[in-house]
Parts: sequence; structure tokens; C-alpha cells
Amino acid sequence: MESPSKHQKLIKITPRLVLQVALPILLLLIIPLQLLKNTSFITSSSKPTPPPTTTTTTTTSTIHDQVAPSRHKPLPSITRPKCDLFTGEWVPNPDAPYYTNTSCWAIHEHQNCMKYGRPDSEFMKWRWKPDECELPLFNPRQFFEIVKGKSLAFVGDSVARNQLQSMICLLSRVEWPYDVSYTQDEYFKRWHYRSYDFTMAIFTSPFLVKAQENDPGGPTGTGLFGLHLDQADEAWKANIDEFDYLVISAGHWFFRPLMFYEHNKVIGCRYCQIENITDYPITFGYRKVFRTAFRAILERENFKGIVYLRTFAPSHFEGGEWNEGGDCKRQRPFKSSESTLQGVDLDLYMAQVGEFYAAQKLARRRGRRFRLIDMTQPMLLRPDGHPSRYGHWPNENVVLYNDCVHWCLPGPIDSWSDFLLEMMRNEGVFSKQEKILLSKDRRFKS
Ligand SMILES: *[C@@H]1O[C@H](CO)[C@@H](O)[C@H](O)[C@H]1NC(C)=O
Ligand SMILES: *[C@@H]1O[C@H](CO)[C@@H](O)[C@H](O)[C@H]1NC(C)=O
Repeated sequence: MESPSKHQKLIKITPRLVLQVALPILLLLIIPLQLLKNTSFITSSSKPTPPPTTTTTTTTSTIHDQVAPSRHKPLPSITRPKCDLFTGEWVPNPDAPYYTNTSCWAIHEHQNCMKYGRPDSEFMKWRWKPDECELPLFNPRQFFEIVKGKSLAFVGDSVARNQLQSMICLLSRVEWPYDVSYTQDEYFKRWHYRSYDFTMAIFTSPFLVKAQENDPGGPTGTGLFGLHLDQADEAWKANIDEFDYLVISAGHWFFRPLMFYEHNKVIGCRYCQIENITDYPITFGYRKVFRTAFRAILERENFKGIVYLRTFAPSHFEGGEWNEGGDCKRQRPFKSSESTLQGVDLDLYMAQVGEFYAAQKLARRRGRRFRLIDMTQPMLLRPDGHPSRYGHWPNENVVLYNDCVHWCLPGPIDSWSDFLLEMMRNEGVFSKQEKILLSKDRRFKS
């Protein structure tokens, strides 16, 4: 168990929990892909739908001269004020949302909360306000100007897909993409924006490393997955060279029963219930997987892109576990004083960010760019943004009735695009900061 005293509503690592968490995640991540076949997401994808009449609103965004986060070391030689983009509050934004389920076909069925009768809409009407500066709202035209002739890939699970679909909807004020997928496989989609020659792709790889289902039953009846902790998943690794931007993330699948391999030999597991195999805490595999993924990226000689780690977005089951009436019924964000990252969420976050900084340091020396999109704290404050029971019809017999893992669209993850664009805009400043850090590193060494 990990810091048991702090758990409260947060997750306790107990065998029962693994069952409870693993099952919904399994369903959430697999069933939606089956149902996807029936949605307009696929059927209308090959031909772009004309943009809705509300053409480009240049929102309120302006280029601010804040410098993005440098939490750890002050950088005195940069003249612009520094600002931690990720520490702040959600504040009302009456102009949101910028699309609806009728103007955008890309909303995944299970995240189309308004279709399934979600009664409130206040959860769509917030923007993130960093304490020390402004985070401009997403400006699709400006985004296209930056990514013109370039390509961006998401690597992760269905929450990564959730973000991709949010971006398609936000960008639809300017242009719809063409489906240029190489395969019929819904896990590997590619979209092309003709006017800007911009490609956006998703590589579904929920564990980031080579994985297989060892046993569809497993100790909890939800499958036992085998993870090769030392081998990045070729499904994305072999395909990243052509991309200018990678947005990488992973999280919710690590709550399942897992078997761990290194050099193709079992080295332990997480809740496998096998007598002579060492059982490790959830962070064990999670940490190694990120280390392996980052190394794999660094080893790609021809990959020259910018790597963004989008940190773990916690789920928000309250009042019980997922199968004991646990739900996420709130209709407003928390204030930062009302919620603290703790328990397993904190452990996962620390493991992930620790690996990120280690990799970033290596990357810097090799002239590679690793950037942190530190969404964990902002998303911890959004218990109101999940589908809950509005991801399906009330009478549908779904095992996971309340989805407190994914995010309604429109909804809070639309703001992930605000962050991504701001990070891209600040890239020049980051690069300068890195040069300074690098020369300091060298000075310390010599
Ligand atoms: C959009 O949401 C409305 C409720 O706001 C619902 O009646 C409608 O069926 C939904 N349309 C689509 C295409 O999902
Ligand atoms: C576990 O124990 C069984 C029976 O003693 C043995 O056959 C098996 O090889 C052991 N597995 C590991 C990983 O040590």
C-alpha cells in the first residue's frame, strides 16, 4: 500500500480495488472502440463536413509575453517575467464552448454528454487562469500558422484520443481534416488539413511498451496483461520519425493486473496473484515504462521533433468505487484550496514527472526538446468534466455505468489545446532557457 493514511476518497491499493478499477478501465478503453463503428466519427470522416457558419472567431487571444514554467531554477538572464502556466484556478468563461455536438462530428459517442441528457452545461464554461499571467484561449488560426507544413502525433490511450477529438472540434472553426489513415484500424488514425498541410495522428498504445494479453481472465476476470518494460511499443516507436510534435501520455491502464518482463523474463507483477512472483506497487511499472519510452525516443536518430509529456489526468469517483455507486456528479470545478493531489494519483504523477526530468536532461545534451504539459493539477480540479452516467442511455446495460475517467466534449479538456498552443508559442523562450542550462551544466562539469 502506498501512503495509506492519505487516501480518503482516493484509491487504495487493495486486491478489491484492482478488480474495481481494472474492470471499468477495460470496458472504457475497449468497448468505446467497438461502438465507434456506429458513430458519425467514422462515417463522416472521409469527407470533411463544411465548417459551421460561425467562422473564425479570433477569440480573445493575444500573444502574451509571459514565459512558461521554470519551476525549478530561476533563469535571471531571460528578461521576460516567468510564469508557471500550470498553477492557477479555473475562472468563468461565458463565451465557451466553441463548438457543440451538432457543429462537430468528431465527438466520440461515449463523451457526447449532451446527447445522453446531461442536464447542466456550466462545466463547459471555464478557462484556466494561471496565478501569475494569462493563458490565451485557443486560436485555431494561430495554431495552424505555427503547425503549417508540420505534423503532430498523439501517443497514449483513449484519453489521448479524447484530446485529439477535442482538437478536431476546436480547429473546425477554420477547417475540417481529411481522413488519410493508412489502415482501417481505429487505433491508428491520421487526419490531414489541406490548406495548412498539417497532419495529426493517433498511435494508440495504452502501456507505451510492448504488451500482450497473457490471459483474458486473469486474477480479476478482467485480463492479465504482460508488459515488456524494456521494449517500447513498435506501433508508435517505428513511426515517429516523420513527426514534428509528439504528445505522449499514459495512466489508467496501469491499474490492471500486470505481469512485468525484462529481457523477456518475468521480473515481477502487479496484482497477478501468483505465489512466487514479486508483487510491485503501481508506480513500479509506470516509472519504467516512461523511462523506456523516453529512451526509445532519444534513440531515434531521425526524430527531431518536440516531445510533450501530458501528465496524468486523475479520475474522480466519489462516494464509492466505480461499482459501488461511485460517481462524479459535481457541476463546478474545485478551487485549488479544495483539493490536493494525494495517494496513488500523487505517486503516479511523481513517478512520471521524475522520469520526465531525467529524460529532459539527457535530451538537452543531445539537442532534443522535451517539454512538460503539466495537466495533473488543473485536471484534479475538474471533477465536473466527466461523462458520469451521460455516456450512454440510462436503460443501457453497461457494466461501468458512471464514467469518471474520460471527459465530456465540449468540456474541460478543450483547454488542453490552450496549453499546447501556448507551449508551442513559447518554444523560442524554452530553447533559449535550455541553452543557458546547458552551458551551466557544462561549466559545473569542467
Ligand atoms: C446533441 O445534443 C442534444 C441535446 O443538447 C441532443 O438532443 C442531440 O441528439 C445531440 N446531437 C448529436 C448529433 O449528438
Ligand atoms: C514458481 O513456482 C513454480 C512451482 O514451484 C515453478 O514451476 C515456476 O517456475 C516458478 N516461477 C518463477 C517465476 O519463479
